[in-house]
Amino acid sequence: MHYFLAKNTDWIEALKLEIIQTLGCSKDQVKTFPQLPLLAIDDSFDITNKYMGFSTTALLNSKEIPEDSISNQAKAISSAIVEKLGAGTKINLDIFSMTNKYGIIETGRAEIIKDKVIKNLKANKIFPLRKKKDFGLPFVQAMVHAGRDVALSILDASEVQTNRTLLSPFVGGFNNVEDDKKAPSRAFKKIIEAQTIMGLTSSLEETLVDLGASPGGWSYVGRKQGAKVIALDRSPLREDLMADSKVEFMKADAFKFVTDNKIDWVVSDIICLPPRIIELIQTWVVAKKCRRFIFTIKFQGKEDYPILSEFKELAATLDFNVIIKQLNANKNEVTIMGWEK
Ligand SMILES: C[S@@+](CC[C@H](N)C(=O)[O-])C[C@H]1O[C@@H](n2cnc3c(N)ncnc32)[C@H](O)[C@@H]1O
Repeated sequence: MHYFLAKNTDWIEALKLEIIQTLGCSKDQVKTFPQLPLLAIDDSFDITNKYMGFSTTALLNSKEIPEDSISNQAKAISSAIVEKLGAGTKINLDIFSMTNKYGIIETGRAEIIKDKVIKNLKANKIFPLRKKKDFGLPFVQAMVHAGRDVALSILDASEVQTNRTLLSPFVGGFNNVEDDKKAPSRAFKKIIEAQTIMGLTSSLEETLVDLGASPGGWSYVGRKQGAKVIALDRSPLREDLMADSKVEFMKADAFKFVTDNKIDWVVSDIICLPPRIIELIQTWVVAKKCRRFIFTIKFQGKEDYPILSEFKELAATLDFNVIIKQLNANKNEVTIMGWEK
């Protein structure tokens, strides 16, 4: 099975339509799970290099490990990992439960299984990374669901590359960026989450162009990371950002702005119809005027969702690694982000 996780159950309908549209399957071929933000399809459907905007993460080519004792399930998971990946490797390893009451949790049964799996793997010199994900390494996810069944997805390093857009650095795709009371708006969480997914942050020597920047959440993050910011909006940013010598504010139409030189980061949180974001991709990404980009695609209603397929078609033609994903911090939005290959 291929499992796709959504941000929460509010997005299941949108994700289901997207799966049907992207993979050409019928409604009946998409398996649903009552009250869980989870859908599944048979793994005979080819998901290689496919984008799934409303999916926060996916467990691809999963095998089911039926309800059993914790030790037996841990043994079955460990053996499957050794069999597929061989001994002597580092891996990304997430083991979590999907619950309707608490969402994604890593405690209880999932935690005990994980401890046992780590012990079993040690004997084969397979070592799970402790902190950050490394998308250059195999990716193992085990999800306890539907009672005590476990869905186990093991991707080797090359499968991780071809399915990078469907995977997440966050366990079960769930993330809650820590609050920052000094940020001028809650929107600052979007750029942090997107950068974490990309595995990149802006830095001292870099310039970040922030389109539709006011009141300045994204510019604030860029400045905290040390970058120089060029911010465009019709309204000013918060006073401290306006006074910052490393912030150049331009009261202008963000769609009319281009630069002669290549910019490190171009980001946009402009409130506009989705086709205007396609224009931004043409201006900055197709024309290779930026090295990295993050653009939110804002929907007015459900009728806008099919336009995602235009973004996907365009993404496939770019010389960029592209991820299209609904962020935990997104509302009725999906974010498209990318970095030069
Ligand atoms: C959601 S807010 C941006 C929030 C910002 N990212 C933050 O973190 O504080 C969207 C902004 O887009 C601006 N905007 C909309 N159309 C624009 C345009 N054509 N040119 C420049 N700014 C525009 C609005 O004025 C508004 O401030």
